Amino acid sequence: MSTSFLQIKNVSKIFPGVKALDNVSLEIEKGEIHVLVGENGAGKSTLIKILTGLYHPDAGEIYINGRKVEDNNPQKALKKLGIVPIYQELNLISLLDVTENLFLGHEIKKDQRTGIFLNRKAMIAKTQEILGKLNQKIDPLALVGSLGVGKQQMVEIAKALSIHANLIILDEPTAALGNEEIVELFRIMRQLKNEGVTIIFISHKLEEVAEIGDRLTVLRDGKLVITEDVSKVSIDDMIRHMVGREIVNKFPKIETHRAAEALRVENLNQAGVLQNISFHAYQGEILGIAGLVGAGRTELARAIIGGDPIDSGDIYIQGEKIAVKSPQDALNHGLVLLTEDRKNQGLFLDETVMFNSSIANLKKYKKLILLNLKRIKEEVINLVHHLKVKTPDLNTKVGQLSGGNQQKVVISKWLNTNAKIFIFDEPTRGIDVGAKVEVYNIMNQLVRDNAAIIMISSELPEILGLSDRIIVIHDGKITGEFNRADATQEKIMKAATGGMEYAS
Ligand SMILES: Nc1ncnc2c1ncn2[C@@H]1O[C@H](COP(=O)(O)OP(=O)(O)OP(=O)(O)O)[C@@H](O)[C@H]1O
Ligand SMILES: [Mg+2]
Repeated sequence: MSTSFLQIKNVSKIFPGVKALDNVSLEIEKGEIHVLVGENGAGKSTLIKILTGLYHPDAGEIYINGRKVEDNNPQKALKKLGIVPIYQELNLISLLDVTENLFLGHEIKKDQRTGIFLNRKAMIAKTQEILGKLNQKIDPLALVGSLGVGKQQMVEIAKALSIHANLIILDEPTAALGNEEIVELFRIMRQLKNEGVTIIFISHKLEEVAEIGDRLTVLRDGKLVITEDVSKVSIDDMIRHMVGREIVNKFPKIETHRAAEALRVENLNQAGVLQNISFHAYQGEILGIAGLVGAGRTELARAIIGGDPIDSGDIYIQGEKIAVKSPQDALNHGLVLLTEDRKNQGLFLDETVMFNSSIANLKKYKKLILLNLKRIKEEVINLVHHLKVKTPDLNTKVGQLSGGNQQKVVISKWLNTNAKIFIFDEPTRGIDVGAKVEVYNIMNQLVRDNAAIIMISSELPEILGLSDRIIVIHDGKITGEFNRADATQEKIMKAATGGMEYAS
């Protein structure tokens, strides 16, 4: 009998307070697309980091082509074993251009022997070729920091393709991608598979798993629950294996009553980005903002809270015209944005859960004359409990939490303010199915308490499942508005692709 390409034998990994992996054994064949699923904190990324040599297992062994991997480290995994990871957190350098990022650490030299001069021309040409293969119109000379999150993810993928890989590991690559980009990615994955490359793919989007995977493995609390052919497992089965129970209602919408106007945006313009945007948001209502990745939704949110300057337009909060000049200004008027980009805008990774959850809110506590530490702690405990943040304790550094749990801390940080208008930008990105329901319940609670919610999301089921009203943005303009009762996936997609005129 031939041995599998990759063998993971009895691997365990312990961090202070958690057993991240508990005696996991798994075999993956050459040219297979193997999907890993599991709740936030189940151990998926840890397993990946062991394969890439970033972490060392406390017990167990890894074999590639029957040979035991010894003294693994990221350089060795990449160069000797051809294991190429694309991590959940983007790892590009903003201040370098696309080409420099692609070839960082494996530059093409003019003279390979002396290795002194870089062959920039060759690298640019190769970058162009790889981006072309991915059908991406990205300038090889653009600074990575100037690209949107979706494009940056595409650059990460291009980087992986620039290295000769035996095993490519994609840790939630589609979280930040638009539909068309996902189609391209899947096309490339199938192509790589046909070339004999093995792929491990992690995702919380279970429909995707069914579409792209050959086999899947479910992890729960660090333990392997099941490995099976994807075709033999329904999505409901996956959920049951992941969370250990059935989830009956994935979108628990509640009845609320639209009350007073909370936010009015009039004729907002930002050159080249936003055109004449006008809309209202009301207390007691969830207003969904749909659109394709790159349509300008995040830019709109940032413009409203004073994160980026606008060219013209007015913003009214509770009926009063306000010049919102900075996010702090916005917060002072009870308006907050929960960003989609947790790493750059949401969190202090070297600080604790406690610190991150209470930082946005110190002013609220200061009103109590002395910082009331006990009260801060109680509120944070409450939120962390509600959001089911998986952390050993409140003093754990946020950087040590799993990706989805970091996202939950971002949410807790902004919930823990006196805000009355919340803009959620892709609130459930990277969050597992069970925890999504918790986030929706928290949104429900907020609107029940008369807050106004504006929810930007690329997930149509989420938009349709939770919004009372929906506006659609295409190319910086509003191209559709629908009431909950009239909205359908088709209508929204049509407006999102610019196929429908907006009658005002
Ligand atoms: N460097 C670290 N130090 C301490 N604990 C860690 C570290 N890395 C991971 N953990 C813990 O190990 C557990 C597994 O985390 P891991 O990142 O593997 O989860 P995951 O399955 O990738 O989750 P997600 O879907 O949220 O990304 C979590 O409880 C996490 O807090
Ligand atoms: Mg992870």
